[in-house]
Amino acid sequence: MSEAIRFEDKVVIVTGAGGGLGRAHALLFAKHGARVVVNDLGGSAHGEGANASAADKVVAEIQAAGGTAVANHDSVTDGGKIVQNALDAFGRIDVVVNNAGILRDKSFVKMEDADWDLVYKVHVEGAYKVTHAAWPHLREQNFGRVIFTASTSGIYGNFGQSNYGMAKLGLYGLTRTLAIEGRKNNVLVNAIAPTGGTRMTEGLIPPQVFDQLKPELVSPLVVYLGSEQCQDTGGLYEVGGGWVGKVRWERSLGAGFDPKAGFSPEDVAGHWKQIGDFEGAVHPDDNVTALREMMANLQKYMKLG
Ligand SMILES: NC(=O)c1ccc[n+]([C@@H]2O[C@H](COP(=O)([O-])OP(=O)(O)OC[C@H]3O[C@@H](n4cnc5c(N)ncnc54)[C@H](O)[C@@H]3O)[C@@H](O)[C@H]2O)c1
Repeated sequence: MSEAIRFEDKVVIVTGAGGGLGRAHALLFAKHGARVVVNDLGGSAHGEGANASAADKVVAEIQAAGGTAVANHDSVTDGGKIVQNALDAFGRIDVVVNNAGILRDKSFVKMEDADWDLVYKVHVEGAYKVTHAAWPHLREQNFGRVIFTASTSGIYGNFGQSNYGMAKLGLYGLTRTLAIEGRKNNVLVNAIAPTGGTRMTEGLIPPQVFDQLKPELVSPLVVYLGSEQCQDTGGLYEVGGGWVGKVRWERSLGAGFDPKAGFSPEDVAGHWKQIGDFEGAVHPDDNVTALREMMANLQKYMKLG
């Protein structure tokens, strides 16, 4: 059994914690001793309206269990206010869980600018605003953990979710760069792609499976990623139904052509199989290792020339 994971001296913001996955994360952080800012605008799953009772109820649940929490009812697009609320209530901020989200599913042909923009605003701009406001505090105290909520719809694609998929994989791009920028100040940044039975997935997942995919089965990973014990950064984890796995990029060794002579579309066609052949594939973890095969190709032809 690993050493106990505790948050007695830590303050955690969980956005969109008035229900679904965020509520489960907030309850588990509080159970492990964290003081929690339970943020939720309390709107519909489509991002309409607002209702303070969602966050208030979760705070009441945490307090009834002996934990410490405050409610925040701002939209994540006003991220600075949420971070200020944490500072006002508890004097510090240690962990940010970017979880708030909405859906505006439509096939691309029917997608309207308003659906595209609102999904971007809540998922990407919201996560940016909260994290950006917390970032200087995390850096300064040489401790921070940030968790972004991506989705398999971003990683693999899903019919009717072009806006959502764009936003969700965008958050992984943000994760990768913040992991690099935060590392030297012990600010570690990871992303999860969860699956859980919530109002967001109700009707999409068959009822018998829906009941098994309890939101509580996602939170242990999130709480671990928020802890001092977690020393990994830049990771992407799929999680749900009591299972956790890690995702990484894989790239073929590819095909190289003479850069001086150039190459034609027909050359591409002639090497198409080789370009897509994953035998001996590599798993680049940064920009430098990603460029290795390209640089080797340049070198090979420079030597010949
Ligand atoms: N449930 C799944 O299977 C699943 C799969 C992949 C990704 N996700 C992601 O997990 C996160 C949580 O989703 P969920 O399934 O628990 O859905 P949910 O609808 O139960 O929870 C989302 C919460 O975010 C809040 N919210 C929405 N807009 C907000 C805003 N502007 N400011 C503050 N709060 C706001 C909502 O009020 C709601 O309580 C989302 O980011 C979602 O995209 C969920």
